[in-house]
Amino acid sequence: MNFSKRVTSIQPSATLAINAKAQEMRARGENVVSLAVGEPDFPTPPHVIQAAKNALDEGFTRYTAVPGIPELREAVAGYFSRTYSIDCRFDEVMVSNGGKQCLYNILQAMVDPGDEVLIPGPYWVSYPSLVQLAQGVPVVVPTEPEDDFLVKPESLEKHVTDKTKILILNTPSNPTGCHYKESALVELARWAASRNIFVICDEIYDQLVYSPAKPASLCAFWTENKDKIAVVNGLSKTFAMTGWRVGYVLAHVGLIKSMSKIQGQSTSNICSIAQKAALAALSGPLDFVQEMKSAFVSRRNMAMEIVNSWKDAYCPKPDGAFYIFPRVDSFYKGDVDSSARLCQVILEEEKIALVPGQAFGDDRCIRISYAVDEQLLKDCLGRIGGLLHKL
Ligand SMILES: Cc1ncc(COP(=O)(O)O)c(C=O)c1O
Repeated sequence: MNFSKRVTSIQPSATLAINAKAQEMRARGENVVSLAVGEPDFPTPPHVIQAAKNALDEGFTRYTAVPGIPELREAVAGYFSRTYSIDCRFDEVMVSNGGKQCLYNILQAMVDPGDEVLIPGPYWVSYPSLVQLAQGVPVVVPTEPEDDFLVKPESLEKHVTDKTKILILNTPSNPTGCHYKESALVELARWAASRNIFVICDEIYDQLVYSPAKPASLCAFWTENKDKIAVVNGLSKTFAMTGWRVGYVLAHVGLIKSMSKIQGQSTSNICSIAQKAALAALSGPLDFVQEMKSAFVSRRNMAMEIVNSWKDAYCPKPDGAFYIFPRVDSFYKGDVDSSARLCQVILEEEKIALVPGQAFGDDRCIRISYAVDEQLLKDCLGRIGGLLHKL
């Protein structure tokens, strides 16, 4: 069969592939632990589940408006308004099947063949492929662990050409967990505006920022620059709702209309029942998130202590999300000469699944998710450290 250049140019998601491999090994009876997970290990809050049950009982099972039911769009606008003290209307937001589809829609709506999209690396695995699916060209701008993997305008500037159209920012970051201060984020947005580059700011982990760091967002900047910024967020991480597939975006009303057109001709509205659940999540209390956060902080601190004891490993302390991204290339020796090989050896010998940094554009590092039980995490990190020092 002759497949399109678009589909042959992209790779399957590395993180989903590793989790599938771990599940396969488990199905064969092997006792595999996955530290490759990209989702909170907490259940969806009960009031959200109840709202979905009510939606079913009430027969709320039909097509809805493509960008979301009006009351959910009002709740999303309310979330942005409350959290970031901004004014936004319901027609400046829409809901899609996860933050991933929001990103897909924006890129489909804005990128023409050959347009270049700046992506600071390490980056979330899907950004380059989403750009390629829109026939754009991903341009990776590397960052260093010593700079907390944060990009500066000077580095971006070196990669700008007359084809540069978009910059994708992500804070806190998957895979590094590192987080921009609001002033740094705004400086980047100002720089992009001065170069006529549109910014997509992926803030899907915005509620998972750990004190003393403060949540940062481009929402306030957006209110003065509505045609220059889109802010992507969603319920997957904040409300432990990865399977429900609810993401949302704040953007210029014209971009919302274009994205609705694309979504209307591809997937239509997201699941009607998930919309009612999302409405309950966004209109309800956030104490659930506080509990999750304190568990993550404790695990992060413990993980940092162990990883810092690994000879020659280097890991900036992350302020958010639930990942650490240590640099471990000092351990590469013989045929263990890449992050992929190292993760393969760790999986085969210790039965622990990790994602190689290569998948995120930095082969010097490995991604460790701490969205797992603290004791299990401690045990796994101890075993990984033991194996690294034996290499
Ligand atoms: C940085 C980042 N953006 C977006 C997403 C997409 O999440 P979802 O499509 O579940 O909303 C993820 C999920 O892992 C992510 O880590």
